[in-house]
Amino acid sequence: MRLQSAPERIDGITRHGVPLAGFTTWRVGGTAETLVEPKDADGLSAAIRWFASHGLGCCVLGGGSNTLIADGEISVPIISTGAMQSVSFSREGENVFVACGAGVSLKKLFALSLREGWSGLEFAAGIPGTVGGAVMGNAGTGEGEISQAIQSVEATGADGKTRSMGRDEIEWGYRRCGLSERGFAVISRVTARLRQSTQEAVASVSRQTIERRKSQPLGTRTAGCVFKNPEGGKAGRLLDEAGCKGLSAGGAVVSGLHANFIENRSGCCTASDIANLAKLCRRRVYEKFGVWLSFEIQFLGFDRRSMEDDALA
Ligand code: EPU
Repeated sequence: MRLQSAPERIDGITRHGVPLAGFTTWRVGGTAETLVEPKDADGLSAAIRWFASHGLGCCVLGGGSNTLIADGEISVPIISTGAMQSVSFSREGENVFVACGAGVSLKKLFALSLREGWSGLEFAAGIPGTVGGAVMGNAGTGEGEISQAIQSVEATGADGKTRSMGRDEIEWGYRRCGLSERGFAVISRVTARLRQSTQEAVASVSRQTIERRKSQPLGTRTAGCVFKNPEGGKAGRLLDEAGCKGLSAGGAVVSGLHANFIENRSGCCTASDIANLAKLCRRRVYEKFGVWLSFEIQFLGFDRRSMEDDALA
């Protein structure tokens, strides 16, 4: 079904037949039947309500740095946060509050912090993706995670209602933000709480983060770590010791540098190649260590259940 009347109802851009590979860092994925880019929470709310009134759910796409989009036509409407790009800030003593649209890249927010000498996001140096996506997945590194720098989050639910919540009203965990479990579908705005420091101090701390990332295949087409670290363990080490480095499926290859990264190594790599390789790796770890790894990446257009259950069946 083509949702041709959507543009008149939703404040934002609506397009049909949109190739999605360019929206992701893996550079794979099919074509969206309908893609909407609301400008703000009102547009977002209108889009969600409009889809709901047509009996449709929707999927959300942020920076595409942690998402595997299925091949072929994606019939579920997609909401992209790419047009929510506002940035403003205010000060209160040493505190700096930076309000960002969900589509602002973490790279841009970090660059602004570095320029102004605002401390609190040093751990985020080099993390791809958008602010909204980072909050939804509580993105982080060994040095910290985004939840520590949050003042408030504005999100819209599957019912189209928008609410602003303080940091403590949200349940945070390792790569987890409780919003989706509470029915909030999309983040529209994030306010970070940073502290005034100096450019030199921010640069010095963030250099350590960047140094750590040298063990990762930067500059190749990946989506960061494919699996979460299991409790008390490291997915990268388990995958490595299970012999996954260098395994391939079609155009997808497990990085020789870090076993928790899958690279798109050729022009003909498909989303199915990546999904099949990820499942193969997970099965190997299970057979060798009895550990069932959980995906860190998000799936769009896949049957998530079949991705989760395959090897245990
Ligand atoms: N290891 C191996 N072989 C490998 C990869 C790792 O033996 O192929 C070992 C390392 O030697 C180390 C341990 O596994 O002893 C952990 O590896 P690493 O230090 O690279 O950290 P990680 O747990 O794999 C986490 C985050 C990364 C983040 C880094 C650095 C997860 C799943 N990953 O990686 O985040 O950049 O710490 O702080 O939590 C991401 O989430 O997409 C991501 C890249």
